[in-house]
Amino acid sequence: MKILVTGGCGFIGTNLVRHLLSDTDHEVINLDKLTYAGNPRSLDDVSGSKRYRFLRVDLADAKAVREAVADVDPDAVMHLAAESHVDRSIDGPSEFIQTNVVGTFNLLDSILGHFNDLSGSRRHQFRFLHVSTDEVYGSLGDTGLFSEESRYDPHSPYAATKAASDHLARAWKTTFELPVIVTNCSNNYGPYQFPEKLIPLMIIKGLSGESLPVYGEGLNVRDWLYVEDHVRALTLVLERGVPGETYNVGGNSERANIDLVNTICRMLDEIRPRDEGTPHKELITYVTDRPGHDFRYAIDSSKIRRELGWQPQHSLEDCLRRTVEWYLANRKWWQEILDGTYQLQRLGNQGS
Ligand SMILES: NC(=O)c1ccc[n+]([C@@H]2O[C@H](COP(=O)([O-])OP(=O)(O)OC[C@H]3O[C@@H](n4cnc5c(N)ncnc54)[C@H](O)[C@@H]3O)[C@@H](O)[C@H]2O)c1
Repeated sequence: MKILVTGGCGFIGTNLVRHLLSDTDHEVINLDKLTYAGNPRSLDDVSGSKRYRFLRVDLADAKAVREAVADVDPDAVMHLAAESHVDRSIDGPSEFIQTNVVGTFNLLDSILGHFNDLSGSRRHQFRFLHVSTDEVYGSLGDTGLFSEESRYDPHSPYAATKAASDHLARAWKTTFELPVIVTNCSNNYGPYQFPEKLIPLMIIKGLSGESLPVYGEGLNVRDWLYVEDHVRALTLVLERGVPGETYNVGGNSERANIDLVNTICRMLDEIRPRDEGTPHKELITYVTDRPGHDFRYAIDSSKIRRELGWQPQHSLEDCLRRTVEWYLANRKWWQEILDGTYQLQRLGNQGS
């Protein structure tokens, strides 16, 4: 297939494009605006492939999106491009509306026009995979899991815009018969994640002996999935998922934030002990909580396991260590980012 991947220079997009080029025969056209979170250098090892092409396009620009879709003439779309950081959505929600809501609308609109011009097997096999998050379901208490039937109850501006885009994508299936499939996934981690996110932030700050800021009391719980397991799930859903269906994707690896940070500290102690020999966990400081911080997310991913035979192949313990080692070995990649506008500062703490 000729797959139009949006957001292919971001964290998950980079890992997805690498997987599609390395492990499948699909052709990849990567459409990305290159915001602060997009980094074409993350694809240096695969971007020379004859099956790869890059287009710099802003999804908020309807005309540019229409032209790109006509130029690419795709067999499928994997839509990942988004503003993705909850804390930034608190500081400046406007970009989130533009990209996640208006951008998704522009893409659906252009793709529907393209789809309606297709015939025969190309039309029959066409798919639009909309990639979303478990944050649209809101927050859980100590027990329970989000299933595909859970009620939408987004709390942060980020989650609200992702929820809006999910509703748009599903409406384009119901109303216009565009073969849309939606996935909602838990927190990803792994190589090439922008340093503002919890795991790389703790690794990089820990390496330089800076204090490790944990929100609130550190008791908020997240389910973690290694990014390679996620991109395999996305590819499987694209190839074998049923249009109109939603698939929840989770790692079955819940951790309180403080437990996760303590594990990272223990790994850093083993791999890169501090000069003075004191444990990294002494760097932990509790800081003002994120406004509206959801307490717990956890995913029931039995549907994708049962219907498509997917399951995570990686354990959190193994891949967290692999991720710590990746950031140690790829200092140049993140140092270049820190030389730009982002220097690990606190975001999303308005009024405090
Ligand atoms: N990271 C996670 O833990 C996670 C979990 C579940 C779902 N998701 C979803 O997966 C997708 C990818 O997440 P990520 O963590 O890789 O995000 P990211 O922030 O690392 O990357 C986003 C990419 O989208 C691009 N982009 C942003 N605005 C754009 C625009 N207007 N036009 C074109 N491109 C634009 C950026 O340049 C960047 O390359 C998002 O839709 C996100 O909601 C992420």
